[in-house]
Amino acid sequence: MENLRLSPLISEEEIQERVRKIGAAITDKFRGQELVVVGVLKGSFMFYADLIRAIDTDLTCDFCAVSSYADGIVSSGEVKVTLDLSRSIRDRNVIVVEDIVDTGLTMNFLKRHLAVHKPKSITTASLLIKPDALKEKCDVDFVGFKIPNDFVVGYGLDYQGYFRNLPYIAQVSNIN
Ligand code: IMP
Repeated sequence: MENLRLSPLISEEEIQERVRKIGAAITDKFRGQELVVVGVLKGSFMFYADLIRAIDTDLTCDFCAVSSYADGIVSSGEVKVTLDLSRSIRDRNVIVVEDIVDTGLTMNFLKRHLAVHKPKSITTASLLIKPDALKEKCDVDFVGFKIPNDFVVGYGLDYQGYFRNLPYIAQVSNIN
């Protein structure tokens, strides 16, 4: 894309090392128990694929997708489910895997949405969190990296649909 500058923020190696550690911590927490790992599409797909390979316990995969009602510039904060889980999570240990927690509205919405289906437990993991952007309290059990309140792309995260294929995380700025 033209007129955009990408400034590398987190390298591929740093991501891979952190994801391995989170996978090991999740393995420790759920040793001997089964998990349903829920990826939030589309942004989490790369983190999700690496993370499940770093978890050494029996697990099944499911996905959901959400979209924010936007007024064109700023998110209104309302979230709707555009793809729901394919199997029941009742009495199961669920891990929600997000790419990034920005305002926290999506993660909090998802926790409430999943809780309705009475899982045994809900654990949350997000590759990135922007603590300065949080609009409401949002507890995340496993966080990859805390980052500044700047727009980032790569490793699944996009800008207007692009840059998801970068193997690292970069800040985006306009050079106009
Ligand atoms: P939240 O509800 O404000 O926490 O927003 C979460 C969603 O916004 C993420 O799942 C992303 O899809 C998107 N998002 C927030 N910040 C960024 C960013 O810096 N880059 C790419 N997507 C982002």
